[in-house]
Amino acid sequence: MKDLTPKKSDLDPIETASRDEISALQLDRLKWSLRHAYDNVAMYRERFDQAGVHPDDLTSLSDLAKFPFTYKADLRDNYPFGLFAVPRERIVRIHASSGTTGKPTVVGYTRQDIDNWAALVARSMRAAGTRPGDIVHVAYGYGLFTGGLGAHYGAEKLDCTVVPVSGGGTERQVTLIEDFKPTTIMVTPSYMLNILEQMHKHGLDPRACSIEVGIFGAEPWTDAMRAEMEHAFDMHAVDIYGLSEVMGPGVASECVETKDGPVIWEDHFYPEIINPETGEVCADGEMGELVFTTLTKQGLPMIRYRTRDLTRLLPGTARSMRRMEKITGRSDDMMILRGVNVFPTQIEEQVMATGGLAPHFQIELYKSGRMDAMRVHVEASPDATDELSRTAAARMLTRRIKDVVGISTEIMVGDPGSVARSEGKAKRVVDNRGKG
Ligand code: DLL
Repeated sequence: MKDLTPKKSDLDPIETASRDEISALQLDRLKWSLRHAYDNVAMYRERFDQAGVHPDDLTSLSDLAKFPFTYKADLRDNYPFGLFAVPRERIVRIHASSGTTGKPTVVGYTRQDIDNWAALVARSMRAAGTRPGDIVHVAYGYGLFTGGLGAHYGAEKLDCTVVPVSGGGTERQVTLIEDFKPTTIMVTPSYMLNILEQMHKHGLDPRACSIEVGIFGAEPWTDAMRAEMEHAFDMHAVDIYGLSEVMGPGVASECVETKDGPVIWEDHFYPEIINPETGEVCADGEMGELVFTTLTKQGLPMIRYRTRDLTRLLPGTARSMRRMEKITGRSDDMMILRGVNVFPTQIEEQVMATGGLAPHFQIELYKSGRMDAMRVHVEASPDATDELSRTAAARMLTRRIKDVVGISTEIMVGDPGSVARSEGKAKRVVDNRGKG
């Protein structure tokens, strides 16, 4: 793999500024953001008033803990535009996420917001090793989802040649990669696996393809998956994190030289980790729920937004800004089996570590008597489809999950292609507990 570490002179000055400089900038911007939210959004004004706090009460960064949280439900309750802090005419773009139930959550951006977003995605891509002039294949979905257009504007901002493929049409993805020879691909890790499989089907050698960098995000993925991808494509695989409510992709992103968790772009977002039960702020290094306050957003300021993503804050390494540990999972994705907490990523790690299996999996939850139980659907790798290999792989995976995760599971080793393929965010868990 090539050394793609960016030159220090190419970074934004704030990326290598001192902690003091970063904190000073954050404090200034935080004051502005609280004031902007309070003055222009009825919900924030009511909430702050009810809690007996006022933007003027913030004199240090830690004072933020006095302010109330914002939840996903608040966006739904104020559907569609009720939390916008500028007149609707100043909003130049809308995105929305469908969610599993009820109304979508709608987000809006001013021109300045779009410019900042593009600059942060460009910064994220540069951190990943992408350079001006590179060809960038964007396979995140275009449309209301923030992935496609978010990546697109960032890649243009970095002066790359963008190929806006969007998700789906896997054969065509492979043809375009063969013909256009992109050096960067931006896609969900689960869809990248699908593309990989399609290359194999066409008899292509993925290690010989032009891609040098994969910028993967929008769903949790493990270091085991990173190793698998880097080996399969002979490329760097880095993690990009973000969420629509706070902006979209590029809230945090990993550096190619360290690959040690996404750097949070702290000049635009103020992170906190809280205990999800008590709401207390945790010290850096402690695990908890990630909470963000936007520092520059005009259209839709978010004050202490509860992401439900579980992680911890780590000190800066390649940049002065803090990192977050690669996300283990969302509190929504946590399954509890006989008192043990389990995340899909823990199962992913064990699937990746078991020989004779393809890297595709889906978890099924069902009732066994009155207890919840888990079945893991995996696939025999194409070179190990005989009965003996399947039984051995199933036994090995059962044991690994029991030993490392601490739960008993039933493993179903299907034929190659039997597990549903992802074209965007993978659906890792199918809940059949309600079904007889
Ligand atoms: O998924 C934005 C995005 C697009 C990020 C493309 C990266 C690349 P939403 O659809 O609003 O936005 O979903 C946000 O996805 O709260 C996390 O639970 C999860 N997520 C996003 N990136 C990562 C990541 C986009 N790198 C939700 N690792 C977030 C783990 C991620 N989970």
